[in-house]
Amino acid sequence: MATAILGTAYPTAPMRLLITGAAGMLAHDVTDAARAAGHEPVALSRAELDITDRAAVRNAVDSASAECVINCAAFTDVDGCESREDEAHAVNGTGAGSLAAAAAAAGAWTLHVSSDYVFDGTKSRPYVETDPVRPMSAYGRSKLAGESAVAEAAPGRHTIVRSSWLFGAHGRSFPATILRLAGERDQLTVVDDQVGCPTFTGHLGRALIELAERCPAGIVHVAGAGQCSWFEFAREIVRVSGRDCDVVPGKTADLARPAPRPAYSVLGTERPADAPRLAPWQEGLAEFMTLQVAS
Ligand SMILES: NC(=O)c1ccc[n+]([C@@H]2O[C@H](COP(=O)([O-])OP(=O)(O)OC[C@H]3O[C@@H](n4cnc5c(N)ncnc54)[C@H](OP(=O)(O)O)[C@@H]3O)[C@@H](O)[C@H]2O)c1
Repeated sequence: MATAILGTAYPTAPMRLLITGAAGMLAHDVTDAARAAGHEPVALSRAELDITDRAAVRNAVDSASAECVINCAAFTDVDGCESREDEAHAVNGTGAGSLAAAAAAAGAWTLHVSSDYVFDGTKSRPYVETDPVRPMSAYGRSKLAGESAVAEAAPGRHTIVRSSWLFGAHGRSFPATILRLAGERDQLTVVDDQVGCPTFTGHLGRALIELAERCPAGIVHVAGAGQCSWFEFAREIVRVSGRDCDVVPGKTADLARPAPRPAYSVLGTERPADAPRLAPWQEGLAEFMTLQVAS
């Protein structure tokens, strides 16, 4: 049994893994990666396990008999969080904490997924794990609350993985939206004043399984290699698709979205021995495009 992320292989015995938020974009690929690595995933959608229901969480964790609980469940509507901050905290904060508490009580490791939105985006060099956090949005505050709740509920028994700008085949994603719009319009305006690391969930899913096998404690940053603006990302999506559509740069302020976004969201790591290295985002996009053609 082995998984490989840019050449690193970790042989491991089959594990039982409980995966929450199983109908979501990342959870789909985590579940597939778990099966491909020979593990036994128990993947529960929100309808099967609502992580805000403490008793249900305890029951599900106990009956899964998992060695690792991977929390992909989250309230991910960044703008919606601004007007529904209590709900966001219940899922992303308290829910994450009660899952970690149940995992710790059952002797399981917690692998929790967090976000670049815990940072304020004012840096101009990649954010590393120990950089000060200062979320600008309700979503970011709720994700930070989740990190604290997990750390408190399962001290020394958790990995928190911060990632950014996810895109995958099983959910609403930026590349899918750009492909659709580029088929409908001659010109698209996309902001060039937010810079980050697009991360293909096929790659991140495999990295999360590798982390579940190794269980490094604490926070690790894992994102697609390289960086770009949304404008550059969109231009590359249109280019590789062969669509005939102009992509022109715009500004975030012109969109007037409810939630502020970090201007600079590039994630780096100061834990190179622990953080799996992902392929460049362009390779993730190429894999994503292959899946679009196949579907
Ligand atoms: N998307 C990004 O760009 C990005 C960037 C950095 C980090 N992340 C993090 O990556 C993780 C996965 O995100 P994703 O993009 O895969 O999100 P997603 O597609 O929205 O998946 C999240 C899943 O969680 C479920 N969920 C919501 N509330 C729940 C609850 N109370 N109990 C159980 N499940 C619940 C959702 O179900 P419903 O659809 O029924 O609500 C959905 O299936 C999250 O922790 C997110 O914060 C995402």
